[in-house]
Amino acid sequence: MQKLLIRGGKPLKGEVTINGAKNSTVALIPAAILADSPVTLHGVPDISDVHALLEILEDFNVKTHFENHTLTIDPTNIMSIPMPTGKIQSLRASYYFMGATLSRFGKGVIGLPGGCMLGPRPIDQHLKSFRALGAKIEDDYGVITMTTPEGLNGNRIYMDVVSVGATINAILAAVKAKGRTIIENVALEPEIIDVVTFLNKMGAKIRGAGTNMIRIDGVEELTGVTHAIIPDRIEAGTYISAAVATGEGVTINNVIYEHLEGFLAKLAEMGAKFDVRGDSIYVHSDQKLTNVNIKTQPYPGFATDLQQPITPLLVIAEGDGTIIDTIYPQRINHIPELNRMGADAHIHGNIISFEGSSKLTGAPVKASDLRAGACLVIAGLIADGETEILRVENILRGYENIVEKLTALGADIQMVEE
Ligand code: EPU
Repeated sequence: MQKLLIRGGKPLKGEVTINGAKNSTVALIPAAILADSPVTLHGVPDISDVHALLEILEDFNVKTHFENHTLTIDPTNIMSIPMPTGKIQSLRASYYFMGATLSRFGKGVIGLPGGCMLGPRPIDQHLKSFRALGAKIEDDYGVITMTTPEGLNGNRIYMDVVSVGATINAILAAVKAKGRTIIENVALEPEIIDVVTFLNKMGAKIRGAGTNMIRIDGVEELTGVTHAIIPDRIEAGTYISAAVATGEGVTINNVIYEHLEGFLAKLAEMGAKFDVRGDSIYVHSDQKLTNVNIKTQPYPGFATDLQQPITPLLVIAEGDGTIIDTIYPQRINHIPELNRMGADAHIHGNIISFEGSSKLTGAPVKASDLRAGACLVIAGLIADGETEILRVENILRGYENIVEKLTALGADIQMVEE
């Protein structure tokens, strides 16, 4: 087991480059098994969620090679293997193997996914979509068995909630179904557009990604292609938050500004100073922050995944502020830990509130989920004294080389054995 030690108060300065998007990558990898020839992905982040997916691919007899952010996936000899337990339960995105195996084999046995504990994370909309396309689904104590006695046939699907995962899974299941599928009330996240771009390059016929209705005309085969993954807007937002908190001039490279508008608008409202320079964002030094009210929303609203990384800024900003996470109201693992470090944050129902500006002091804390971990790293960079962060494995699910990247910016941060 490893832990992070951060001695706070060292200003960040210099440049950091953002990786390809985790939440695209973890959908693109399962989507690749729909091809009948090898797929190459560029910009793949070297994070533990990716390694878990590669192990699952190996179990499906799919060959992979991952080096220097380039991943080749050769699904030519793929076999339909039941995956009721094991690695499939170690991350959320393994649910994409449900849509992908249905599409590839017309059947599958996949255990329910794991991933960060953010309160209830049902997959009813995923299963409803598969059923609408003709799949028979049995849930035997968390093992989902899918069959298609009459094949997969296009249909109309209306999503009751706007869901990233259900939208992508419905697309994966429908892409080779007979006839036309129309999916309404879909999510608009850039990662969905990335996955659709990839599938269309492979030969799929999908229209409307980025709007709230997607139309799919089923095709018979999909061919391997090369695809470059979009930058990770959540990793970018995390480093931007760190730079606003403690920076003396930091440039964040490989950013699509339009993907971060909701987040950057909130930072601007707090008084943060930054410039957009092409595909980089420069964050100025000496920020004076005033507090704000944040409500997370599906894209293009303020992203739930950036709620935790921005929280340290609300802790230190002048005045009162609030956060309401409408996507995951129980995404609050970071709050008791921040309070151990001296924050004055309170939880009333689904509202997190901050009163006045608090001074943070180093303390032993626990990264109970990925973005809570990112929040605590930023809090540790701000705090006086030493912060010790346990459960680091949660951070490594989604942030590549976080120690090296922050060290290059001047942070005093080390990974040590517990
Ligand atoms: N929901 C349902 N039924 C469903 C699916 C979702 O009620 O069948 C609800 C959820 O409970 C939640 C809301 O719909 O309240 C939205 O959830 P969504 O399905 O969009 O989340 P997800 O697909 O499971 C992805 C990301 C998360 C990110 C959310 C929201 C991946 C692998 N995960 O999860 O990323 O928070 O979208 O944007 O893409 C992270 O990176 O830290 C992370 C947790």
